[in-house]
Amino acid sequence: MSEDGAGAEGLKSARWFEGDDVPAFVHRTALRAEGFATADFEGRPVIGICNSWSELINCNVHFRALSNSVKRGVMQAGGFPLEFPTMALGEQLMKPTTMLYRNLMAMDVEESIRAYPLDAVVLIAGCDKTVPAQLLGAASADVPAIMLTGGPATPAVFRGKEIGVGTDLWEYTDDLRAGRMSREEYDELEAASGPSVGHCPEMGTASTLAAVVEGLGMTLPGAAAAPAVDARRYQVADAIGRRAVELAGEALRPSQILTPAAFDNAIAVLLSVGGSTNAVIHLLALAGRCGVALDLDRFDEIARQVPLLADVRPSGKHLVEQLFHAGGVPALMKELEPLLEREALTVTGKSMGENLAEVRPSSDRSVIATLAEPVKPAEGMVVVRGSLAPGGAVIKASAADPDLLVHRGPALVFDGIDDVIARIDDPDLEVDADSVLVLRGCGPIGGPGMPEWGAVPIPQKLLAAGVRDMVRVSDARMSGTAYGAVALHVSPEGALAGPLAAVRTGDVISLDVPARRLDLEVPAEEIERRLADWTPPEPRFDRGYGSLFLERVTQADEGCDFDFLRGRSADPASEPYGVLRGMIGGW
Ligand code: FES
Repeated sequence: MSEDGAGAEGLKSARWFEGDDVPAFVHRTALRAEGFATADFEGRPVIGICNSWSELINCNVHFRALSNSVKRGVMQAGGFPLEFPTMALGEQLMKPTTMLYRNLMAMDVEESIRAYPLDAVVLIAGCDKTVPAQLLGAASADVPAIMLTGGPATPAVFRGKEIGVGTDLWEYTDDLRAGRMSREEYDELEAASGPSVGHCPEMGTASTLAAVVEGLGMTLPGAAAAPAVDARRYQVADAIGRRAVELAGEALRPSQILTPAAFDNAIAVLLSVGGSTNAVIHLLALAGRCGVALDLDRFDEIARQVPLLADVRPSGKHLVEQLFHAGGVPALMKELEPLLEREALTVTGKSMGENLAEVRPSSDRSVIATLAEPVKPAEGMVVVRGSLAPGGAVIKASAADPDLLVHRGPALVFDGIDDVIARIDDPDLEVDADSVLVLRGCGPIGGPGMPEWGAVPIPQKLLAAGVRDMVRVSDARMSGTAYGAVALHVSPEGALAGPLAAVRTGDVISLDVPARRLDLEVPAEEIERRLADWTPPEPRFDRGYGSLFLERVTQADEGCDFDFLRGRSADPASEPYGVLRGMIGGW
């Protein structure tokens, strides 16, 4: 391909647009009907812009403007941009949980990329599940792809204090429930909480995944943390558009980037930023798409080496905007470099080590600490197993009360979120600070879709007594902005015949994070006896997508992907000529 992008030999799109037969005529006509001249696209790489813009997602609502910058970059580099929408998953408005639909969006993305004449794709995502859904789809389609995340929102300020959207909300809500805050003050907080577009500004799931994408090498260095409203976000978008055209010419595919080394780097970034536990599930799913043998134990192995370097909420003090001003993810990775796989190829066409050679160390050690003097020591996120979680569970130890990391106490069991709502603030609830709150029935099948209900609220009477954290155990997920000594993602979940389904209030549960254990102190024969009498819950769906989800979703330790979506499709360019050219259906 020449410098202006001309010369489309070998491009997938050429199989649609070149030639004098009826299919080529029809395909060209389709674009000319949109007002494009043949010269706009003929011989040029077609760059799909996979846009999760939606007015249903405040976090992604600036993506049309970002897409314009991407298009400008594509055209500058000689490519031909075509934007297409995807399903959009809005964390705040979509119920019961966006996680129920991540795989559906991934299927939409995968099939759109494969079925259309796209030589490379720019994936634009921001709000939590839109990022992994696009990555999963692109990894399976395996067409050259690069991701642009939307950037963190402008931090909210409440009474002179900068606040995170989630982390502080949980605290203020506890204050309201404990009578330390009035309803009027809470309204004032609500009005102040969403000052701009962009994703949550602390190291919640969206910011975590943006950093992880940079760790994977699937975006340009520095793209993760630039604020949504900062001009540099748009400059990055422009650069990503230009790079997408080069990717098409180089035929650099996700399968060359998403290797075991890339996953190790991404996990190191996740841990060094004190990132969301949700990223564990998404990386496991992505690895499954890529044929990479990643399991929970690999997270724990890397967690033993990687300390917390980013002093960002909820594990630290600052917001992602300060991380950006301190050098962003490149400066963070520069510090992490001794622990990284430097040879991992990235979407720049260079290795991670080559990318980092151009990066200066952080200018602000109060935000990005050194390996020698980290914010917190290693093991900020750990994997525990034991008789209560034979398939594993995840604890974000860096965001928990350290005194609770070794704990033994009686279980107080809740069956589903409605049970929590009905009883948690009952003054007669038999609970004390040593109790272990167990929430089950909220896993992939039980939730359904594994909602972020795992951080069960502290009972009101304990809050009033000053209790701020308790050991909690759940098959649910937890918001990346939440905190607490919560053993999440317990596998197998409570909707399956496993130990979580057998727990009863009063049983003793022991958590030992240093020993990586989570145990139910009930004899195995008694658990078996209880399970013999156990009846699985009624399925929540009997038709449609929900029914497919319940039948084919995997457990959390396998990423909650559909079993039939693991792996990749055949290279689209290998489709028989007749499949791509011979159809004129619908005309
Ligand atoms: Fe969309 Fe947090 S709600 S990123």
